[in-house]
Amino acid sequence: MTQESTIQLSLPEGYTFRKLKLTDYSNNYIETLKVLTTVGNISEENFNKLFQEWSQNSHIYQPHVILNKEGVVVSTGMLLLESKLIHECGKIGHIEDISVAKEEQGKKLGNYMVKSLASLAEQAGCYKVILDCSDHNVGFYEKCGFEVGGVEMVHRFFRY
Ligand SMILES: CC(C)(COP(=O)(O)OP(=O)(O)OC[C@H]1O[C@@H](n2cnc3c(N)ncnc32)[C@H](O)[C@@H]1OP(=O)(O)O)[C@@H](O)C(=O)NCCC(=O)NCCS
Repeated sequence: MTQESTIQLSLPEGYTFRKLKLTDYSNNYIETLKVLTTVGNISEENFNKLFQEWSQNSHIYQPHVILNKEGVVVSTGMLLLESKLIHECGKIGHIEDISVAKEEQGKKLGNYMVKSLASLAEQAGCYKVILDCSDHNVGFYEKCGFEVGGVEMVHRFFRY
């Protein structure tokens, strides 16, 4: 991250940023994630189970959302905190599953989400925060204060 990540952030009037809630299952959370990739049919029961798993491990899993003026989820983002042994028990953040509802794109919500998650990683004591993205999103993440840092390798067990 560059110094740019520490600039003051703001959302459009009436929009809010907060942690994911259980009730977001029926508040456009899954539909917003479908803008990013295939999600499949997630039952409320399965959502509840996953939400409990994330909540019980909230030192690791930190899913967040942005709501519009109507209180509907229009952006998603996950921060994962990894405690390592290297660098004197250093900690790093991983940003995952950034998505903005199609009709809400271009309002700097993605920028707000990424910078907010990066800021939370910094506050949690991380020495860096990293993410994977496709080539066509490099420019977006550069505007969020990131720089190209390496090459992603993958060994797929399933293809989505
Ligand atoms: C990529 C995405 C998150 C951007 O969110 P957004 O809210 O529309 O973007 P913002 O309004 O915050 O854009 C911030 C800046 O990045 C630029 N930008 C947005 N998408 C871009 C892209 N793909 N490439 C280059 N620049 C981009 C914007 O033009 C804006 O520039 P400006 O500050 O000069 O005006 C959103 O388009 C999206 O959800 N896409 C589908 C899912 C996805 O690809 N997620 C990322 C997975 S790694």
